[in-house]
Amino acid sequence: MPASFFIQCLDCGNHYSYSLQSTLCPECNSPWGEARYDYKELGRIFPALIDKRPFNLWRYRELLPILEYNPNISMGEGGTPLIHAMNLGMMLGCPNLYIKDERQGPTSSFKDRQAAVAVASLKEAGITEAVLASTGNVAIAYSAYAARAGIKLWAFLTSLVPAEKMREVAIYGTQVVKVTASYDQAKKVAAEFARQRELCLERGARTIPSLEAMKTIAFEIVEQITSILSPDSQPATHQGPPWRVPDWYFQAVSGGLGPLGVLKGSQELLEMGIIDRIPAIACIQAEGCSPMVHAWKQGLSVAEPIHSPRTHIATLATGDPGRTYTLLSDRIKMAGGGAFESATDAETFRTIHILAKMEGISVEPAAAVAFAGLIKMARAGQIKASDIVVVNCTGHTMPVEKLILGDQWARNLVVPSESAADTPEEGLLSALSQINIDRFPRIVIVDDMPDARRLIRRILQSQGDYTIFEATNGKEALDLIDIEQPDLVILDLMMPEIDGFAVLDNLKSNQRTATIPVIVVTAKELTQVEKQRLQGQIYSLMQKGEFMNDELLDEVRALVK
Ligand SMILES: Cc1ncc(COP(=O)(O)O)c(C=O)c1O
Ligand SMILES: [Zn+2]
Repeated sequence: MPASFFIQCLDCGNHYSYSLQSTLCPECNSPWGEARYDYKELGRIFPALIDKRPFNLWRYRELLPILEYNPNISMGEGGTPLIHAMNLGMMLGCPNLYIKDERQGPTSSFKDRQAAVAVASLKEAGITEAVLASTGNVAIAYSAYAARAGIKLWAFLTSLVPAEKMREVAIYGTQVVKVTASYDQAKKVAAEFARQRELCLERGARTIPSLEAMKTIAFEIVEQITSILSPDSQPATHQGPPWRVPDWYFQAVSGGLGPLGVLKGSQELLEMGIIDRIPAIACIQAEGCSPMVHAWKQGLSVAEPIHSPRTHIATLATGDPGRTYTLLSDRIKMAGGGAFESATDAETFRTIHILAKMEGISVEPAAAVAFAGLIKMARAGQIKASDIVVVNCTGHTMPVEKLILGDQWARNLVVPSESAADTPEEGLLSALSQINIDRFPRIVIVDDMPDARRLIRRILQSQGDYTIFEATNGKEALDLIDIEQPDLVILDLMMPEIDGFAVLDNLKSNQRTATIPVIVVTAKELTQVEKQRLQGQIYSLMQKGEFMNDELLDEVRALVK
């Protein structure tokens, strides 16, 4: 934190010096202030400052309200990878899709950033006891850091928080208070408790270190996108073109601290001259608790509170976002645009499956809400194919699998005891024959693009019950289909030499292949004549970039059992 650091009152504009304990503006008593730095000076030195530091949140320490970095509390927070989501991106027709994998933080959620900076500042201020209310992940993250810092923590959790999360909070030694009421009411109880005992209270967007911590997501993304897209640019000597910025940043939203921090971080980079625009922010809420989405869609600057949230996703159950919504929506508009959208619980649970099967990334429902919103917006045409999209992917401290997997998630293989079989190998072989792959339906994928073949194979394999063959061109396809006699062909149309139309004509005119069903998967915009050519010849037509994995699987399952 540089000497020029101060707090600016959001109500009267007064500048005052920062203290964790006295949080009101000395002029007008407003609790709403924000940290300001000398952006001109920092812009000059920032690239060189961060250049040699490890890739974690403390590399931006000059833009954090901490006097001195304390390595004893740190657990390597921040510095999470930015992962290219090729399969999901391909399915959505949005190839530049990246996942900011906040699951890789110390307690698996982006709240680690908030906890790391807030607890460091409690420690620095000599505070030994603090209070918060939480829907789960904030309490988990804070508890871990408070344990390291030797700070006693009181966590007021709404009783809707899953027991697994509550136990995780308790294991760090935090005093857990289960409040049988909504999250908004739990916040009020926590505030009153803190007031009566004169304890320090975590106040979300009004707690300076908490909001400041969330900025680091924006800083990291800009650094990472720049090194992915412009690998030759030299951030350290940053003289020339601005660093790269994503077109969209998606985040699941409850109270709104995350996106507010990302906006502030982006604004600061802009003021420092490091970037030349601010990304569009998409705030996605659970439909049963989406006061911000309602307000945005009605053009309101104040969100009407939702008193009884109707969602199973308790993590996102802030019914009354208060002024955070007003700040968020004003700043999104000022920055040039963004979106507030919602996703239902059903869409969210489906998205957990999609993300896990397509990208190998398993997330808790609160994180999946952001992806469900992305899928919705991409399919509504709100995201351009050229857009660079980053999604905050966070939180996996809740064993959600048991809620959404159903019973049929494993094959049972019972290996007889060695004495029951003549030889041990025989026992093993007879057990393995119970999962005999030859019984599975046979599918030929025909596509000249390796990535497209791989995506379709991946989708089919996630079901697990198909034997798959691939052909890379029309000629190879005709030979393969004739020999293998598959149960189904998945056919691309645009291929050099023998294209999909010709393959189809050939299949239909050959007695051995005429009745094999065909699903066409194509990126081609078909003309009326082409559509007529396909009519009666194929089972269904699917447009690349417009279907999700489970939709293709539904079509396949309807044809082959
Ligand atoms: C996994 C996850 N996603 C999103 C959120 C929303 O956070 P906020 O709206 O405060 O940024 C939370 C809040 O706890 C969370 O735990
Ligand atoms: Zn003021």
